[in-house]
Amino acid sequence: MSDIEQSKHNRAIIQASDYALLANQVIDEKTDAYIAGGTGNEITMRRNSDAFNAIELRPRTLVDCTKGTTRTSILNQAMRHPIMLAPVAAQRLVHADGEIATAQAANALDAGMILSTLSSQLLEDVASSTQSTKWFQLYFQSEQVDTLSLVRRAEVAGYQALVVTLDTPIQSISVGAQRLGFTLPDDAQPINLKKHGAASTVVLEADDSIIFQGMMREAPTWSDLTWLQANTSLPIIVKGVVHPKDIDRLLDMHINGLIISNHGGRALDSMPATLDLLPTIRAQVGDDFPLLLDGGVTSGYDVFKAIALGANAVCIGRLQIYALAVNGAQGVAHMLKLMRDELELCMALTGCPTIADINQDVIYSQGK
Ligand code: FNR
Repeated sequence: MSDIEQSKHNRAIIQASDYALLANQVIDEKTDAYIAGGTGNEITMRRNSDAFNAIELRPRTLVDCTKGTTRTSILNQAMRHPIMLAPVAAQRLVHADGEIATAQAANALDAGMILSTLSSQLLEDVASSTQSTKWFQLYFQSEQVDTLSLVRRAEVAGYQALVVTLDTPIQSISVGAQRLGFTLPDDAQPINLKKHGAASTVVLEADDSIIFQGMMREAPTWSDLTWLQANTSLPIIVKGVVHPKDIDRLLDMHINGLIISNHGGRALDSMPATLDLLPTIRAQVGDDFPLLLDGGVTSGYDVFKAIALGANAVCIGRLQIYALAVNGAQGVAHMLKLMRDELELCMALTGCPTIADINQDVIYSQGK
């Protein structure tokens, strides 16, 4: 991008969410449909942001906030702020440096980063690009030996936790992306997977279902999670499990944390907004359990609202990619900085100098 174009961009970016507006100037139509889209009729995707917009805040005044800070910690890992970068696949789709640029931004802003199994850069190279908190998002592979190889590589590379995503044993791209014929280009393939690009080895009979006998045959089950626990020393955080019975089972297994997620509306359509699920799940897991949330977070206001309703931190999905597309590592760092500024503003205007001070008291409910 030329200096002139860059300065136009910079002038236009006032708040973190501006990156979403600018991204469609630099991302082609097919890629945009893949990134922006959700599954089905995108009901869940819309709900995620509607839920944030529906929350009303009430200010407090005359509180001394001069010692204010967004510092916090999760799993005993110190963080400069409760804003993490969600695992997002194939980041070279939007920028040549892909996940390495994102890691450099995370490093600059001391933001936690979760690297996707479907990363388009080597997990070792990404790990060495950031000194901040880094977790590795794991998709179970159809062969246990391949899953174990990813886990060992993540451990050796210095990732401090595994984030096991369980909500998408069937992954379909959005209807819009399908209509436009989106496919993943060669330079954005999942480079860390041994068999990337290889077709499934499952052989279907004439009457078999492509879903049940096809994709679900390679899907993980509870025993895979138990096996994983026995085969890693890293804490395990589960992403995308929201049913109370499943959560009970995870608590019984002593899972180390949860990310409340509906994959940004890219898993089962018609799921509730993650923000709407949050208070009940917090009540179920207890005050001290590490609980994160993603889905529809596009501002520091959203971060603040999620924390008020019980999250320890949030993860940013699409907005991270939009910022990466607009201006690489600098874009992601700038987006994070703006979001943190917005969070600080909410904290100051509600009289919450620290993250621990934020609770449901800042939320306005009619009549209370
Ligand atoms: C994702 N997400 C995702 N999640 C995951 O566990 N592994 C992955 O590889 C990916 N890949 C991915 C690609 C793209 C293009 C998107 C948009 C999302 C889901 C992601 O981690 C997160 O749950 C959502 O993106 C959060 O919602 P928002 O912030 O995008 O609204």
